[in-house]
Amino acid sequence: GEATIGTVFMFMQYAGMMSLPIMLIGQQLQQFQAASASLNRIRDLRAIQPALTDGPGAGWEGLRTQAPVVGFQDLTFAYRADTPVIRNLDLKVPAGEVIGLLGRTGSGKTTLTRLLFRLYDPQDGAVTLDGVDIRQARLDELRGRIGLVTQEVQLFDASIRDNATLFDPAIDDARIIEVLTDLGLGEWLARQPEGLGTVLRAGGGLSAGEAQLLAFARVFLKDPGLVVLDEASSRLDPATDQMIERALDRLLGADGSGRRRTAIIIAHKLSTVQRADRIAILDQGRLVETGRRTDLEADPESAYARLLRTGLAEVMG
Ligand SMILES: Nc1ncnc2c1ncn2[C@@H]1O[C@H](COP(=O)(O)OP(=O)(O)O)[C@@H](O)[C@H]1O
Ligand SMILES: [Mg+2]
Repeated sequence: GEATIGTVFMFMQYAGMMSLPIMLIGQQLQQFQAASASLNRIRDLRAIQPALTDGPGAGWEGLRTQAPVVGFQDLTFAYRADTPVIRNLDLKVPAGEVIGLLGRTGSGKTTLTRLLFRLYDPQDGAVTLDGVDIRQARLDELRGRIGLVTQEVQLFDASIRDNATLFDPAIDDARIIEVLTDLGLGEWLARQPEGLGTVLRAGGGLSAGEAQLLAFARVFLKDPGLVVLDEASSRLDPATDQMIERALDRLLGADGSGRRRTAIIIAHKLSTVQRADRIAILDQGRLVETGRRTDLEADPESAYARLLRTGLAEVMG
């Protein structure tokens, strides 16, 4: 008789009404803790200073589209101390020439392109453009002069527009569509639900061939005087292969446009190697042979001629 049935009912009702807000407060405290932990991680990330810093500037304004002379001088580089991957390498690529870089898997071909793009600095020696050490240049100045097509194409979780221009808003849509169409991606673009605004998913959504062509589109939109191509070693279907061949013709000025670029191509296919004026063969980070392609072809004793006899696909990775 201490409480009426009504009081007990009210008591239960009020307690029930309080349980949800208390649970929500608990959840929000948890979210707050997770957010502050993330904030700390972001702060740590932002505090990291890149080891590679801008040079004072090389005064390359206006030279972006001109073909430079590329020099590697007594270059030595190791990812980890005492295991050099590039050893005392000397090589010069004259302006406007195409050099084909050959060698076994692990011989240091990709590494050489990374040093040129200054993703790493060498332990010894130097990489030069038009005779100027690339460490003199600001990073944007250097990388603005080089069009890079890597073996694996990196896609961003962003629109086709941003993926093609690499987030450069100065390039207008008409130009992007023109370049994609010229490369043979016109039909593919027409199939995309929101055209250039369609969001691509990082690491998916594009076939290997389409991704390669998109990488070419990036280079054409930038139109640099120096291109570096690390050809995909995976096989593409014949139709895509033909589109890539045509893109290469245009990139290297073999389509009659007369557009001259200096080019370093790491080729896995004979048809690509045959676009080279010069050949350089690497073995365990050393340059073992270099010369004009036609001269090396004519000399049955050359490492290049032997490589052709063995078959490229057998040797290169
Ligand atoms: N990021 C890296 N860290 C450490 N070692 C690496 C790295 N990238 C490549 N290497 C090593 O450097 C050598 C040359 O590799 P790479 O330049 O990729 O050769 P290639 O392109 O001729 O196949 C290989 O022994 C490889 O294992
Ligand atoms: Mg490689």
